[in-house]
Amino acid sequence: MGTVLPGVCCKCEEERRRQFAAPGEFSESQTHMTEIQRSLQDGVTLSDEDVEGRGDDLAKMTYLTMCMKECFRLYPPVPQVFRQLNKPVTFVDGRSLPAGSLISMHIYALHRNSAVWPDPEVFDPLRFSPENVSGRHPFAYMPFSAGPRNCIGQQFAMNEMKVVTALCLLRFEFSLDPSKLPIKLPQLVLRSKNGIHLHLKSLGSGK
Ligand code: HEM
Repeated sequence: MGTVLPGVCCKCEEERRRQFAAPGEFSESQTHMTEIQRSLQDGVTLSDEDVEGRGDDLAKMTYLTMCMKECFRLYPPVPQVFRQLNKPVTFVDGRSLPAGSLISMHIYALHRNSAVWPDPEVFDPLRFSPENVSGRHPFAYMPFSAGPRNCIGQQFAMNEMKVVTALCLLRFEFSLDPSKLPIKLPQLVLRSKNGIHLHLKSLGSGK
């Protein structure tokens, strides 16, 4: 095992590494992903005003928003955040941690916890439909962290991604290169060790 941060339990660290190393998850769902991509392409509307940051079509692309949220559930760009406790914390089950402990909030593991997310490995954008979101704990999903130090750029980031993704979907159909599947590499951000190799098929829209 490589370096374990001071104060981070070895068992948790092992679990973290095991989770990130889960094999085969990209190959399973190519047909499923193609169907989702076609539905997305049908629903994408984007005006020049949106690209310039003045339009309101972004708010209307609800399925695209749900897909992006589901991507962030399975692949949170920030997989783990840390805090050093400045006072002791006692949890609901009576266990406690002393002041000074370095603790990790494991966003990646939370987003794949089957007690919170049924069939966690399945890519299902409908998890983020308004009715499904309403029954879920507000901290079940936290790609932008939560609480007083959450991400101040999250709305901007979501809008920027919507514009870029919509522009790409209007022009191309994407599929993974099955011979070069991404190897997840958790660093400060979650990235791929070997890049992300995609096939692009032009949709010939000329846009
Ligand atoms: C997909 C894009 C992004 C993701 C997933 C993301 C995620 C996060 C997360 C998880 C944190 C909390 C870190 C922690 O608790 O230790 C954070 C904090 C922060 N983010 Fe983002 N972020 C994104 C984009 C942005 C953008 C575009 C901006 C600025 C325009 C931004 C500005 C910040 C700032 C200033 C903080 C620190 C807030 C504080 O400590 O009070 N982020 N972000």
